[in-house]
Amino acid sequence: MSPTSLLKTQKASIVQKDLTCAVETIPVTPPGPGEVLVKNNVVAQNPTDWKSIEWQRIKPGQSTGCDFAGVVAAVGDGVTNVAVGERVAGWCRAGGGDMSSFREYTLIAAHPLIKIPDNVSDEEAATLPLAIATAAVGLRRLTNYPQAAPYNRYVLVWGGSCLYAIQLAHLSSYKVITTASPKNHELVKKYGADVVVDYHAPDAVEQIIKATGKQGGVDVVFDAISEGNSVELSTKSLRANGPRKVGVVLPLKEDELDPSVEYTLILCSLLLGSDVNAFGRYNPRDERDYQFGIEFYEQVAGWLRTGQLKGNPHTVQPGGLAGVQDGLAFMKSGKVRLDTSSSLRDPRPRPHVSGTKLVYRIADTP
Ligand SMILES: NC(=O)c1ccc[n+]([C@@H]2O[C@H](COP(=O)([O-])OP(=O)(O)OC[C@H]3O[C@@H](n4cnc5c(N)ncnc54)[C@H](OP(=O)(O)O)[C@@H]3O)[C@@H](O)[C@H]2O)c1
Repeated sequence: MSPTSLLKTQKASIVQKDLTCAVETIPVTPPGPGEVLVKNNVVAQNPTDWKSIEWQRIKPGQSTGCDFAGVVAAVGDGVTNVAVGERVAGWCRAGGGDMSSFREYTLIAAHPLIKIPDNVSDEEAATLPLAIATAAVGLRRLTNYPQAAPYNRYVLVWGGSCLYAIQLAHLSSYKVITTASPKNHELVKKYGADVVVDYHAPDAVEQIIKATGKQGGVDVVFDAISEGNSVELSTKSLRANGPRKVGVVLPLKEDELDPSVEYTLILCSLLLGSDVNAFGRYNPRDERDYQFGIEFYEQVAGWLRTGQLKGNPHTVQPGGLAGVQDGLAFMKSGKVRLDTSSSLRDPRPRPHVSGTKLVYRIADTP
């Protein structure tokens, strides 16, 4: 499709003055040099989608959403890695302009994109891009990833129900210990966890250490939660004489830090190849991360084709883009805020998105 034959307008989920989202009609912007316009078929939801609105990084009149899967509708000058009609999945850092996924057309840089193999549905593909980027950046910061693990090395993924960190660590031959609610234990094992521990258990740390045998603790921690007392408990799971590295996905307070541990803030946006302002810190573009991301997404497409890697289980939310508001509200309300002064043993956690990714089919939009 040439830019001239593109539709002029599209439906999009737009943030309103009261910070809810509603479907509006907005213009379609044709791709510029180095850009691709993707006609989205399925978009997937992440916690950052509601947080960006709550924290007013995304303002009324703008739209949210990062993950998308669809078909290339048009390419800008100089784009050679994908062609019109090819199926692709990717993600953007929503934040105004045309960059968001909860809309019919997403305008995006041509790199990095995942070419979706024929054996993978758009729903499955949409669950991947942002979450697997986070997992890859995390393992890269904590280990020699993508190099294979040395013999008998343990990664603890605290909060494994998102599944990608487990899968990547397993593919790199790490021994993977993870935490999850009991209902997700079979799921995380199916996706590559060697050992799973219920994080609500009073002796969760002891169970993790016991599982590492004589080693007496894990080598590195990927704390995919980084809230409540996850950092404290996962740090206690490290072995005394190991590399003692903990990767976190949210910024920590100084008083939470153990001076014997090297903490690293994992930022998935580094794979997009631009400067990142996140959590009050400026992170300059790093060409190495960007090039790693391009190669990594090529590898992801290959692993999906051979079945070595699987997308997350997903739940199709009703209403397409019109259903986004309910999905965001559900994810926000189900956020289990854990009291660091007590314990993780909340007997009545609120219903939350668990072991599944919420996705929306654009064609379901009324
Ligand atoms: N820095 C970055 O670049 C980056 C990128 C992506 C995400 N994030 C952040 O990472 C966090 C996790 O995101 P997510 O997409 O994985 O989804 P999520 O919906 O926040 O959490 C996924 C799973 O975590 C488990 N969980 C919740 N609280 C837990 C706790 N205290 N201890 C252990 N497990 C717990 C639950 O597992 P069960 O259902 O098994 O109980 C839940 O299903 C969010 O805060 C998000 O904003 C940061």
